[in-house]
Amino acid sequence: MPKSDQSPLQIGLAGFGNVGAGVYKNLLKNRDLLQKRIGRALEIRRIVVRDPAKAREIALPADLVTTDLDALINDDEIDIVVELIGGTDRAYDLVKAALERGKTVVTGNKALLAERGKELFALAEERRTPIYFEAAVAGGIPIIKTVQESLVGNHIEAVAGIINGTCNYILTRMTAAGLDYPEALTEAQALGYAESDPTLDINGWDAAHKAIILASLSYGCWVPTDRIYVEGIEKITRRDIDFAHRFGYVVKLLAIIRLHPESNAIELRVQPSLIPKGHILASVNGVFNAILIRGDVVGETLFYGSGAGQDPTSSSVISDLADAALWRNTCEGQTGFVPHGLYGNPLPIEESISKYYLRVEADDVPGVLAQIARVLGDHDIGILSVIQPEDHAEGSAPIVLMLHYATFGTVRTALSCLKELDCVREEPILMRVEQL
Ligand code: HSE
Repeated sequence: MPKSDQSPLQIGLAGFGNVGAGVYKNLLKNRDLLQKRIGRALEIRRIVVRDPAKAREIALPADLVTTDLDALINDDEIDIVVELIGGTDRAYDLVKAALERGKTVVTGNKALLAERGKELFALAEERRTPIYFEAAVAGGIPIIKTVQESLVGNHIEAVAGIINGTCNYILTRMTAAGLDYPEALTEAQALGYAESDPTLDINGWDAAHKAIILASLSYGCWVPTDRIYVEGIEKITRRDIDFAHRFGYVVKLLAIIRLHPESNAIELRVQPSLIPKGHILASVNGVFNAILIRGDVVGETLFYGSGAGQDPTSSSVISDLADAALWRNTCEGQTGFVPHGLYGNPLPIEESISKYYLRVEADDVPGVLAQIARVLGDHDIGILSVIQPEDHAEGSAPIVLMLHYATFGTVRTALSCLKELDCVREEPILMRVEQL
């Protein structure tokens, strides 16, 4: 049962990686401040790690360490379980067991929540035992509380986010330093921004997990992972970034969440996209994240900050611990996510509409441009602008087009026809153009 006293809250910390160690370090650093603000001390009672002998920058307090996750669950003195082990299997078992034992949960695990949030939040509500997850989206930016609390009086009309720092770093370096994609990725890894296995970052799924959480909170129904359209940045070349620049745009990996009021459908996608150079999101560079939210009452709002890293992410975990402390005393507030089902189904990606950037590598012979234009015309897709630079390799020429508004389905069908043309040499590159 929650305690209504002033005794220290006892925390079981699962995981002492970058973020877990940051939580430990910063709870000690700001202990007095936190105690004054929260009214109770936050004490780490036990820490679970896989390998206590591993070398670490922040030393593990040996008296608190165990390798047994059950030690957190079975300890009745532990009030709050902080899950920072990552993955979706052991983490799921831990969170579920913690809720079943009446322990408040704090997690930064976006994959776990995107994939299994529906059942975990239902369990949390059934047990009236909350899950807090500020660190799961955009690291240190307080975006979860913003959507859940500050914007509670709004219908969310649209969200556009740069929510993967690794991709933003890579695209920034390709833009600013003219690096090729592999060089920029290697640099991001060397600096510790990208994981040693950066797959989920660069294939868009890290951003997709975060977008699923934001969309679900915004629209009151937990979105299944198969209802988001996801593309990564792997195919984007420095040339595309240069061409985008010539047209007046920069390339960003964007998460787009948008309500279509006429059909009540939710558009949900993560794609590399062109945004106008003058737009405020175009100046979000390096590993920074930014999220633009438009509500029907508040209008447009923008949140900017560090989307990853030890200190920013642990700041979010600690804010969740403060909320958990309040809950333990009052048992008031929401348990994480309660569906309200005011909105309809995800919009089929084929029906989503935008302008497009298209680069086609084709034979450098007369009539090629006409063939490409004919395919586009046959699909009723208008051309806004074309570039074919003179300085291209012998025999092959890039034809770069900006296309008028069209549905994604139509453009994809046209693309498959373009690929059939004998003059087209390689897979065309297609990116959205967002007006935001
Ligand atoms: N790897 C993520 C990023 C941070 O690069 O933004 C954690 O989700």
